Amino acid sequence: MKIEFQETTKDLAKRIDIHNKFGARDIDAWMLDLINLQPGSKILDVGCGSGKQCFSYYDRLNGNAAITGGDVSENLLQQARDEDARRHSGMKFVHLDFNKPFEFAENEFDFVSCCFAIYYAENVPFTIGEMHRITRPGGRLFTTGPMPENKKIFYDIIREATNKPIPPMPGSSRYSSEFLSTIKSLYHKVEVHIFENPLTFTSVEPYIEYTRASMSEDRKLWSTFFQSSGDFENIIHSITEAAKRRLDQDGRLVMTKVVGGFLATK
Ligand SMILES: C[S@@+](CC[C@H](N)C(=O)[O-])C[C@H]1O[C@@H](n2cnc3c(N)ncnc32)[C@H](O)[C@@H]1O
Repeated sequence: MKIEFQETTKDLAKRIDIHNKFGARDIDAWMLDLINLQPGSKILDVGCGSGKQCFSYYDRLNGNAAITGGDVSENLLQQARDEDARRHSGMKFVHLDFNKPFEFAENEFDFVSCCFAIYYAENVPFTIGEMHRITRPGGRLFTTGPMPENKKIFYDIIREATNKPIPPMPGSSRYSSEFLSTIKSLYHKVEVHIFENPLTFTSVEPYIEYTRASMSEDRKLWSTFFQSSGDFENIIHSITEAAKRRLDQDGRLVMTKVVGGFLATK
């Protein structure tokens, strides 16, 4: 399966910022409590983006760990490296395409994570197989991704505004099915944890900012919606009107993120 996807620094930062401002819960705290990292661990975060999870691991362990982040986007890696230099944290941020063999030795890591990224993998058994290969026996894999009921209102509003079917999202359409079953087939113990985070909007502007950063033409996932120039702004206009109608009716828009955390032991 070819995944037409490209993340931009600006859109990722915007979505992280809106989660922080409008979400009721802190996903980093949930994840850190769940994974209970051990001091001195050798850790790899795959699809690290600008380093969000790497920095949270570093802070939780007070720097007592060897942490590497890998991503395919040079822009996002550069952001992570700049932040690492600013903090003097000494982590490594390396180019890694999870559709290709990982340049790490067998059994090299105690802990491998992949947060909101694994579902962009084109060949699921291959990518999970690589993660499994580089994890030591008894070591763990942790992944996060959207469950099928994730952000229901977001998709409902787009359907209402456009009368178009939503293109299959590589995350919510595959994460809890194909990815979970592949992880179960390779690891000897797998726990499934659910994190729900309602984002509450009482005005339409930040909701539309989130929509723009999610549907951005740069991300390609929505390309069937945008055939000619001008389509993007026209669709955003219709979504704004639909979101305003719901806001007028209910006084607020509540978009609940429903995230699955899969914790697997090799
Ligand atoms: C939604 S972002 C999540 C980033 C980060 N983990 C976070 O939570 O902020 C998805 C990430 O997956 C990365 N990605 C997509 N395809 C990839 C691939 N083939 N190999 C490695 N990383 C990839 C993107 O560049 C992006 O950084």
